[in-house]
Amino acid sequence: MPRDPRYDILFEPIKIGPVVAKNRFYQVPHCNGMGHVRPQSHAAMRGVKAEGGWAVVSTEEVEIHPSSDISPYIEGRLWDDHDIPALALMTEAIHKHGALAAIELVHAGMNAPNLYSREVALAPSDIANPASYAPAQARAMTKADIRAYRRWHRDAALRARRAGFDIIYVYAGHSLSLPMHFLQPRHNQRTDEYGGSLSNRVRLLREVIEDTKNAVGADCAVALRFAVDELRGEDGIRSAGEGREIVEMLAELPDLWDVNVSDWANDSKTSRFAPEGFQEDFVRFVKTVATKPVVGVGRFTSPDTMVSQIRRGVLDLIGAARPSIADPFLPKKIEAGNADDIRECIGCNVCVTGDYTMTPIRCTQNPTMGEEWRKGWHPETIPARTGNDSFLIVGAGPTGLECARLLGRRGYTVYLAEAGEQLGGRVTREARLPGLAAWARVRDYRLNQLNKMQNVEIYRASRVTADQVLDIGATRIVLATGATWRRDGVGRANTRPIRGLDRAAHVFTPEDLMDGRRLEGPVIVFDDDHYYLGAILAEKLRADGLAVTLVTPADKVSAWTANTLEQHTIQKRVLDQGIEVVTNRNMVEFDGSRVLLQCTYTERQTELPAASVVTVTARVPNADLALALADGADAMTKAGIISVSTIGDCLAPSTIAAAVYAGHRYAREFDWPPSDDAGFRRELPSATAGDVPASGI
Ligand SMILES: Cc1cc2nc3c(=O)[nH]c(=O)nc-3n(C[C@H](O)[C@H](O)[C@H](O)COP(=O)(O)O)c2cc1C
Ligand code: SF4
Repeated sequence: MPRDPRYDILFEPIKIGPVVAKNRFYQVPHCNGMGHVRPQSHAAMRGVKAEGGWAVVSTEEVEIHPSSDISPYIEGRLWDDHDIPALALMTEAIHKHGALAAIELVHAGMNAPNLYSREVALAPSDIANPASYAPAQARAMTKADIRAYRRWHRDAALRARRAGFDIIYVYAGHSLSLPMHFLQPRHNQRTDEYGGSLSNRVRLLREVIEDTKNAVGADCAVALRFAVDELRGEDGIRSAGEGREIVEMLAELPDLWDVNVSDWANDSKTSRFAPEGFQEDFVRFVKTVATKPVVGVGRFTSPDTMVSQIRRGVLDLIGAARPSIADPFLPKKIEAGNADDIRECIGCNVCVTGDYTMTPIRCTQNPTMGEEWRKGWHPETIPARTGNDSFLIVGAGPTGLECARLLGRRGYTVYLAEAGEQLGGRVTREARLPGLAAWARVRDYRLNQLNKMQNVEIYRASRVTADQVLDIGATRIVLATGATWRRDGVGRANTRPIRGLDRAAHVFTPEDLMDGRRLEGPVIVFDDDHYYLGAILAEKLRADGLAVTLVTPADKVSAWTANTLEQHTIQKRVLDQGIEVVTNRNMVEFDGSRVLLQCTYTERQTELPAASVVTVTARVPNADLALALADGADAMTKAGIISVSTIGDCLAPSTIAAAVYAGHRYAREFDWPPSDDAGFRRELPSATAGDVPASGI
């Protein structure tokens, strides 16, 4: 299909200093839990982005010196020449597809825990890292330290050029780097020429940009990533105040302005809390001040929104982290006139969890993310079928839909049976909850693909029995029947049913609420799941006008969402809505009119009035069909059935990302020979030592 001419503007080249980006699609820096530890995996992932049409593909934060060691988090590293070959793998993979490679050089200052290097952290002033409770402080930099830092940055830029990078970043974003800490009065209390007035606080940033331009500016573009607004009012940089003044002061110095909001949680806001393009109000002014190209972000997945950003003069380049993770081929799809094939990011931030868990990145929408090298998975090129198998997939939730999509793409005949009228399983239900509408994209993308396939038949309202499984004529059976929330309170804190829940009438599960059952207040939402659902259900009930108390054995609301950057925002919203929060309490009994709670530390007990209880604790796999089939091995062999596999939540309940991955994995690997090995390539530590440092050992 030819490209829609409305989108032509997205494919116009643009000059960035001495280099030219072939189009307007710009993958901004994003970490991925691979970085310097898994350079092959990292390079392959970036290479796929370049293949998918992004004109610029950036690294994540790259540490420039041992005093900027942010272990245990896994980022890029360019401490010395030994780090060049690993990064060169990435630039080669990117250049192969005609894209530009960008590197974000970072000195994390007081945010560097330096747990590996054991260096003392550096800051404008003596200060403790406000983002950590670690019992260590950063020390105020002397003038000699400032000179050393400038030298490290310059040396790193020279090394980056040798590694093949085309765009070299100076980073003053997210409150995560020295130049930004110098800009912030709350972190910079110096009285010399680097502190005090704005022009003094900007001095270091200006010097570092100038140093970088002097070092590599003839060959490489020098980009500045700058947070124009910290969204913390008077206490922070504001786009209506110093944020704008700083852009005015440095307007023509960098070759590219990469502008966003800070901190990271504000920048990578989930769809629950911010719509596509949500940063526009903050960054719009930059193009009115600077003539240099401007890139900005905002979870852009719609080509119409992208065009509008450029036409209205908000941005020159469409920056994307998450949209490029969910669909590395987004630009190519628009270019080929297949915009409706874009696998749109749902804004869930599961991709961020890889950083916090120090493991390779994963994505709810794109199960191949992070698997490009170690499993050889490509998001678009799928191996063709290897035989004449046909498949009955039972359950059209995220697992079943993804499994059917991929088996269909491979060319197999697939029958997809869903017990209910609606497809999408838990995603369809959860997308009805406040703020989760974008999650329906998990279903919609897959249905859109399935509807184009002749070899996949979908049966709605078709609850399959064990006998029917034998009759359908498929050689392989895939059970993807999902899981059901427990009503008895069993979960993490309670390994046995909570007293009274079996007898009390007013006990509700998340499914009851998602299916529209009404309940009476006061309501206790007992959240022993600790992800998003407990707080969202509390929010929904509060919006229905009920008195709600959220009780959790954790010390925070939705504790696990610290890994998706949402915890603070979720707890704030819960409190702002007038939901009572009781932390560090387990629920031990419900008698129909009150719950008994027990302190998780002292075992002291308290009571709360409760007309209804919602249990968000654990789920039970829907395994009835699997159990029924387990007895019929002979009948199945007679019916020509080679295998029955249980996958996704009906094997072990987990995230939607894990459910999609399970469906994808089955479709890729069902025909692999059985093996006890890891099932993927590993990057093993090298026995090669670096040089003995000049300072000796
Ligand atoms: C998984 C992930 C890792 C990120 N890591 C970095 C990073 O290393 N450096 C950086 O400047 N920004 C980082 N960001 C922020 C993104 O560059 C981007 O500004 C933000 O996600 C908003 O863009 P988006 O809506 O297109 O995702 C990261 C974002 C994500 C989702
Ligand atoms: S994990 Fe979620 S937020 Fe991240 S890219 Fe994938 S769909 Fe988007």
